[in-house]
Amino acid sequence: MKILSGKKVFITGAASGIGRSTAMAMGKLGCRLFLTDIDGNGLKKTVDVISGSGGKVCEVRAFDVGDYQAMMSFAKDVHDGYGPIDILVNVAGVALFSQIEDMQHSDWKKVINVNLWGVIHGLESFVPEMIRSGNGGHIVSVSSTAGIIGLPWHTVYAGAKHAVVGMSESLRYDLRKHNIAVSVVCPGLVNTGMVQSVEIHATPEASDKLRASAPRIAITPDKVADLIIKAIRNRKFMVITSFDIWLFYFVKRCCFPIYHLVMMAITRFMDKSLK
Ligand SMILES: NC(=O)c1ccc[n+]([C@@H]2O[C@H](COP(=O)([O-])OP(=O)(O)OC[C@H]3O[C@@H](n4cnc5c(N)ncnc54)[C@H](O)[C@@H]3O)[C@@H](O)[C@H]2O)c1
Repeated sequence: MKILSGKKVFITGAASGIGRSTAMAMGKLGCRLFLTDIDGNGLKKTVDVISGSGGKVCEVRAFDVGDYQAMMSFAKDVHDGYGPIDILVNVAGVALFSQIEDMQHSDWKKVINVNLWGVIHGLESFVPEMIRSGNGGHIVSVSSTAGIIGLPWHTVYAGAKHAVVGMSESLRYDLRKHNIAVSVVCPGLVNTGMVQSVEIHATPEASDKLRASAPRIAITPDKVADLIIKAIRNRKFMVITSFDIWLFYFVKRCCFPIYHLVMMAITRFMDKSLK
């Protein structure tokens, strides 16, 4: 999809971080935007910035992506008013770092609800209509490094993000016949609201120290938005946002014993820092 101007794009998580940067970048390219987030105030700010610079936001609604009825109802309104969308971008997410023994059932549910059910609801509400239209399209889902590497302290987050990679891979092959391309984005640290909002089940001092160190090594959400747009243009499947993560993933696939040793060292480091 070389030319993005005029394309109808639905983006979740558009109130902040990667979702907001992607919405702004696509607005500048002339896309017609359909935006959501659970944070109504943040969403309004995104819409104001995009509209103020001449971008076109067609529909905007605040809701929980984990709420199937809310997603279906938004999709129905979009389809009734504008027809099928061209590009679906699943971005909304929440993060939790914890040891399993420190997690409540509600922690598992919250992370799965947003990071996995949120993506599923986006897919089931919008993709069948894309297929029926026969116009092709593109699906982007934001996973994480934790979606390709079983990072310590990330059990439920890694589970949801691995599932997003698995679903994307399956859809990549299933949807080729409909000319719908699929991308899955696996960022490392990105300097967004999540760096502060991530729930960490450790002492406040250890959590603050981890949060404070993150921005120094994080990339910007604008860079991730650029990579998402390049992936749509080049129909690229796996988007890994920095060389170190690409190398890590390569070692996992091609030299597992070395990966295992590195993972043991990372686990020891995380345990020491957070326990
Ligand atoms: N920031 C990072 O270091 C990082 C790294 C890897 C992957 N990611 C992934 O990138 C995506 C975007 O995160 P971000 O870094 O921009 O963080 P962010 O916190 O800035 O943005 C996430 C957005 O999701 C929204 N959201 C949360 N729960 C929601 C719900 N139930 N319904 C609808 N919207 C909801 C938030 O309100 C927020 O606007 C997430 O899927 C995250 O897991 C982030």
